[in-house]
Amino acid sequence: MAPAETTGGLTPSQLAAFWRDGYLVIPNALPPTTVKALLDETHALLEGFSLSDHPMTRFSTGEKSAHVGDDYFLSSGDKVRFFFEEDAFDASGNLTKPKERAINKIGHALHALSPPFAALLDPALNPDLLGAGSSGGSVAVGHKESHPAAIARALGFRDPRCLQSMIICKQPEIGGAVPPHQDTTFLYTDPPSAVGFWYALEDATAENGCLSFLPGSHRWAPVKQRFVRADTGGTGFINNDGPKFPVGDEYGEKEGQSEDGEYKLGEVKAGSLVLIHGNLLHKSERNTSQKGRIIYTFHVIEGEGTKYDERNWLQPPADGLTRLYRE
Ligand code: FE2
Repeated sequence: MAPAETTGGLTPSQLAAFWRDGYLVIPNALPPTTVKALLDETHALLEGFSLSDHPMTRFSTGEKSAHVGDDYFLSSGDKVRFFFEEDAFDASGNLTKPKERAINKIGHALHALSPPFAALLDPALNPDLLGAGSSGGSVAVGHKESHPAAIARALGFRDPRCLQSMIICKQPEIGGAVPPHQDTTFLYTDPPSAVGFWYALEDATAENGCLSFLPGSHRWAPVKQRFVRADTGGTGFINNDGPKFPVGDEYGEKEGQSEDGEYKLGEVKAGSLVLIHGNLLHKSERNTSQKGRIIYTFHVIEGEGTKYDERNWLQPPADGLTRLYRE
């Protein structure tokens, strides 16, 4: 994906920063009323789901136990499902927290099935959600331009499709760490095209496990592995024998670059949007504080001229992926 010539949705300096650093923080992308609506929906989901028919699937990044890969996870692409923090259980396997304080993430089709989150992708469902509606002169400048479709267009997408969406809770005391990774490992297209849209619904700080980024790593860090459905069931990593970078002269492995470089902390206020290039190395630490860190994230891939691989852990629903628009 080449940098776009048009700048609608992002200013030229924002675009330049994204292509230089591989990520971009956009403060106040969501007005406080929208943040509240999305948080209210999150809490309703957490309180509303039932433990009685839940397989108690834990979300694991593979550091402590095998990477998550049961059927409850694998068939979650078109559902709203709940995955527990690894540290929410005692040695006997009993929950040590109330269920609403024990969930690591909710996924992976909030963008299609939860009205408030669906409205974020389709302003026709709620024109006021991004402050871009009929309230005339009181609309804050910039919100309209923060719409995901406008941003995707500015990033050069021709047929952006939402692949998955998640609420990540990063619970107080037990919020799990996420080791350095590239999102394209999990959302592979040939050639790579994924971009993450990451919205803070609560302040994300060093104390409660905010993201951190290795600036510029999207240009030199190849996607060496892919997360796929294993032949024997479950999930696993395989070597990536396809393209390891998006198309573009700016990409390629470089001598002297290290994945152990200096990560930059991404502390952001609630309402901020962080765009994350699919090749960018990023991570987050444990949350052992008393403050949670609820965020909402979805990923967009290019539907035109790319191949979505049938081995990917996440397979599109029968009626296809949600289009942000089509040129
Ligand atoms: Fe990520």
